[in-house]
Amino acid sequence: MYNQPMLRDDALKGKTIVVTGGGTGLGKAMGTYFLKLGANLVITSRKVDVLEKTAAEMEKETGGRVLAVACDVREYEQVENVLAETIKTFGKVDGLLNNAAGNFISPTERLSANAFSTVIDIVLKGSVNCTLAFGKHWIKEKQSASILNIVTTYAFTGSAYVVPSACAKGGVLAMTRSLAVEWGKYGIRTNAIAPGPFPTKGAWDRLLPGDLAEKFDFKNRVPLKRVGDHQELANLAAFLISDFAGYINGEVISIDGGEWLQGAGQFNGLEAIPNEMWDMFAQMTKSAKGS
Ligand code: HXC
Ligand code: NAP
Repeated sequence: MYNQPMLRDDALKGKTIVVTGGGTGLGKAMGTYFLKLGANLVITSRKVDVLEKTAAEMEKETGGRVLAVACDVREYEQVENVLAETIKTFGKVDGLLNNAAGNFISPTERLSANAFSTVIDIVLKGSVNCTLAFGKHWIKEKQSASILNIVTTYAFTGSAYVVPSACAKGGVLAMTRSLAVEWGKYGIRTNAIAPGPFPTKGAWDRLLPGDLAEKFDFKNRVPLKRVGDHQELANLAAFLISDFAGYINGEVISIDGGEWLQGAGQFNGLEAIPNEMWDMFAQMTKSAKGS
């Protein structure tokens, strides 16, 4: 069931949604589902050739309308241009999905200052730029809207070896919760999704290069013993950005099969103990009663 579309066909009819990083990976999967639910779609990222190819594929698959606009989210003027092009083409905009990201694994002490700030600039400043430009527009137009931010579970736990990304995603989560309160009065809802492992070329090439993908097989870290399916993330994103989630504001929803909690519980490692040993341990712990 989890790889099946969930919402009714018209759930996003008449909505226009902008997806940053919408030409590849998870952004492409979420955008394709928004189109299937009746939305107009704007996809944006730096590589215009990738965007145009994806837009053509999406239109062919769904029969919907897709506008591709090149934009580096680090540049505020380019973000303003995405907003202007969206209004010019579709007349209005209803939703923003902050999905664009940059990331790679590295011991932190090996990073140059520029390497650190490159990731912060794409993830945190990029999400800030888009949120600010679109938020100002919605407030000026007195229009209700929905912002959805893609973070990670290490936005709240932190993680070694991806420290710039953890700092930036933590910042995006703080922005999510802050604006949910500040902009609620304008009818702007702000929520986040924290995905666990969902295989994409972009993430796997940078986070699991070479034979790391086999050595560090993500599914072994997940209580459900599998990675995520793109459609189940798309289902959650479509729901949260739609009016059906109209009373959900300031929430972050993890969709990770229980991965981050498995790493957190002090005794979770006891999973490794075979069943037959539990009888022996029961005897030992019971006999400790009088001690
Ligand atoms: C150390 C590195 C590096 C690496 C780049 N740098 N890669 N340092 N280790 N592997 C340094 C460079 O040397 C340079 O510093 C600085 O970072 C900027 O690099 P550029 O290549 O000039 O930057 P840019 O062209 O802007 O590219 C940004 C990028 C790149 C982040 C480096 O990987 C990219 O475009 N990524 C976009 C897609 C992406 O990352 N997708 C994955 C998202 S996955 P100096 O000092 O030399 O100038 C994700 C999932 C999380 O977030 C959870 C998964 C389970
Ligand atoms: P991806 O395919 O590499 O997606 C990243 C996208 O961001 C690309 O389309 C890229 O396009 C765009 N981008 C990068 N820098 C940009 C910039 N400066 N301006 C505009 N766009 C930029 O990887 P993904 O796995 O689908 O990741 C999507 C989101 O999910 C990210 O926020 C990531 O942190 C999050 N996430 C993924 C996983 C996972 O398991 N895959 C887990 C947790 C969270 P261009 O190169 O054309 O700019």
